Amino acid sequence: MAVQISPSILSADFARLADEAARVEGVADWLHVDVMDYHFVPNLTLGLPVVEALLKTTSTPIDCHLMIDDPDRWAPGYAEAGAASVTIHAEAAKAAVRTLRAIRAAGARSGLAINPATPVDPYEDLLPEIDMLLVMTVEPGFGGQGFLDIMLPKITKARGLIDKYGGEVWLQVDGGVSAATIERCAEAGADVFVAGNAVYGADDPAQAVRSLRALAQQ
Ligand code: DX5
Ligand code: ZN
Repeated sequence: MAVQISPSILSADFARLADEAARVEGVADWLHVDVMDYHFVPNLTLGLPVVEALLKTTSTPIDCHLMIDDPDRWAPGYAEAGAASVTIHAEAAKAAVRTLRAIRAAGARSGLAINPATPVDPYEDLLPEIDMLLVMTVEPGFGGQGFLDIMLPKITKARGLIDKYGGEVWLQVDGGVSAATIERCAEAGADVFVAGNAVYGADDPAQAVRSLRALAQQ
């Protein structure tokens, strides 16, 4: 699978989201949108109305990462609105299979995310239901945190499970992904890379995306 880069707008200027989205258009594969609810994580960002507004302003496919309680209730709405990929957290879902199927039925790619303390093995049986597995490489909630090296073996393990399954499941990493860490993530088997601070903290976000892609492709 080709390397894909998904800049996270969590590190962008929330007052100028359309402009910030435009800065990576045509260069980034995805625009990563972090939805947080003050419950699943100790931070609050944005919800469906802002995603709907973003969908109107950018042609970059939207990769929604739902860090919210009760994703079973809310996730299908993001897919119905037009997000191309919707990821729910395994720790928050009470009916993950039903919700992943609802996301697909609404026309989006289904994603399942696991926190640093959540092992990947219990989710092997769910691989046929998901288009992307997200291994968090920080505790979710905030941008700009340090990459957790201790997650590298889990990325390797996830890659092994996906290869054994044999279907097309992308392996995304999110948190602390930068020029200093992306190569190790790629070596461990990740193929979709979320980067917030490393892209929107750079003077030239588009160039940052190109540099990250080049490093991951090596
Ligand atoms: C954190 C979010 C990430 C965040 C990553 O909970 O899920 O998407 O924006 O930001 P960086 O790349 O700065 O760690
Ligand atoms: Zn995220």
